[in-house]
Amino acid sequence: MRQIAVLPEILINKIAAGEVVERPSSVVKELVENSLDAGATRIKVEIEKGGSKQIKVTDNGEGIAGDFLPVALQRHATSKLQSLEELDSISSLGFRGEALPSIASVSLFEITSKTKDQLSGFRIKVEGGRIVEQTDIGAPDGTMIEVRELFFNTPARRKFLKTQVTETRHIIDAINGLALAYPHCGFELVSDGRQLFDYNIAGDYKSRVKDVLGGDFDKMVEFSDKGDRISLSGFTIKPEFALKNRAQIYFIVNGRRISSPLLYSALMRAYGEFLIKGRYPQAVIYIFMDPSALDINVSPTKSEVRFSDERSIYGALMSAVRKCITSHDVIPSGFGSVKPGFGVEEENESADYRERIRAAAESFFSRSKSSYISENQRAFKMHTGKSPASLENIRPTPERKTGDASESLASKPADERSTIVEKSTREESVFELTPYRVEQFAHMFIIAFSRDQITIIDQHAAHERILYERALKSFEHQKMSSQKLLMPVNIEMEPGMISGAEEYFELLNNLGFELERFGPRSLAIYAVPAVASGKNPETLVRDLLSDLMEYGDESEDRFKLAAQRFACHAAVRGGDNLSEEMMRGLVRELFKSENPYICPHGRPTIIRYTVEGLRSQFGR
Ligand SMILES: Nc1ncnc2c1ncn2[C@@H]1O[C@H](COP(=O)(O)OP(=O)(O)O)[C@@H](O)[C@H]1O
Ligand SMILES: [Mg+2]
Repeated sequence: MRQIAVLPEILINKIAAGEVVERPSSVVKELVENSLDAGATRIKVEIEKGGSKQIKVTDNGEGIAGDFLPVALQRHATSKLQSLEELDSISSLGFRGEALPSIASVSLFEITSKTKDQLSGFRIKVEGGRIVEQTDIGAPDGTMIEVRELFFNTPARRKFLKTQVTETRHIIDAINGLALAYPHCGFELVSDGRQLFDYNIAGDYKSRVKDVLGGDFDKMVEFSDKGDRISLSGFTIKPEFALKNRAQIYFIVNGRRISSPLLYSALMRAYGEFLIKGRYPQAVIYIFMDPSALDINVSPTKSEVRFSDERSIYGALMSAVRKCITSHDVIPSGFGSVKPGFGVEEENESADYRERIRAAAESFFSRSKSSYISENQRAFKMHTGKSPASLENIRPTPERKTGDASESLASKPADERSTIVEKSTREESVFELTPYRVEQFAHMFIIAFSRDQITIIDQHAAHERILYERALKSFEHQKMSSQKLLMPVNIEMEPGMISGAEEYFELLNNLGFELERFGPRSLAIYAVPAVASGKNPETLVRDLLSDLMEYGDESEDRFKLAAQRFACHAAVRGGDNLSEEMMRGLVRELFKSENPYICPHGRPTIIRYTVEGLRSQFGR
């Protein structure tokens, strides 16, 4: 065996380069970070052949004095960190003193720099880690670094480079990440002589986000959620515009762009049911927090961080984004993305839509009841007092004991004491429907005309959504109100069935049923939920019990199953005639629900045609 020896500096740097310099974009990132740390307000990046031939970064920062220029190229030489204590509150992007020597060890490297105080600039040329030239030279204030033939002496690395297009994309992404974090600096990128962008100094984050996202900016919604310990803000895409790749997500934590599986999953979770499978959000998210609750020294590229309180940051991001996307308009447009005059895309769009809805249903039902409740509890506030004719309040007139359930929607509120639950998080920006006219169409749909849109609502799906949420709540805290039957109804059942059914009595009791075993083969119904008092009590109870017994064992969550089955059986159906008052009640209630846009099976409840959409359809 050979003797143990400390590696020569050049070799150490080359090894370190393996970590810091993965590809051209890592060079760009390190150099631009240095420029930013040097207080630059203008940074120009020029690349050739995706950066593999040349990367040149020019800045107007404070520069490096001639005496220190060779030092900057040494390993662990940094001007940004002097003590251990500083590591916890580091505010510069760099601090490890690794980038320059690493890059210089795997390229033909040249640095030219001049500080304000010096009369002339200074230049050093390095080839594969060896200084080959040092000269005084006239130069403007600031620093210019040129990196040619990256990985010329590490052929393996060079082989792994992807196409120029891919490498250029990575470079764009790296600069964009920094540009989003530093709006007060201008950034220009030139690739093979062609300018790809030139972001002017921006007054605030928002204008920079606009620069970076370009036309996509209009697809975003803004959010801001400032707590005492953490502040979150940013822009996130309206679900209907979600992308087919996940590249366009920027998390900027205390001014540093990071990649974080934790934040990513919080973001995805926030979108949850609103995303089609295989689609991803686009987002720029700024997080500011106490730096001591954050460890940035996790990886040499500093692109990962460790949060000391992962749960709370996860929760904070999740709920901020969720609130933002649900408080905005997530109703699909009736037009889809059909271009005027072409029917081709229609098919795709509806297939896409079906897929979205399917995925939505899947994720909706896979959430456990407890998470559903706790997530939503925060979003709800109890509202007591005078309530409009809410569905729960509506009772049928006694003569109309059986028959069309929809009739119960219309009658006057009988119980002013009952409370309704209102969503408090829904802000002004929310789409609220106050139609000036409602019409029923094909005994199945409600067409609501409002000032600038026509909304089509599936009456059964909408009512199901309302009842579903109400049923879930009834299990948690608020029993649904009952309607006593004038005469108890007896149902005959197999003795085995009756025992099975008994297991569900308590659950059904929350929903407003009063049931009792009546001898070995029969069951008595004393009361039914007020909202379902128009339904035939026997059919309702039978259908519900048989569903529960059939699916109950497979279901992970009995509450959800019960709520869903109840909603399905108790809701008005297609074919039911609705009066204007019923329709208005239904629309009003629908928009009070947590998730008005899809029914518990995941089908849409609403489709909308806006004036704008119509205009463009007609080519106006
Ligand atoms: N563009 C620049 N302008 C001014 N100083 C720079 C620039 N690039 C590098 N430096 C100086 O060189 C030092 C080493 O840079 P680097 O190897 O990237 O390490 P780090 O950024 O971690 O300190 C920096 O600490 C800084 O003092
Ligand atoms: Mg650096």
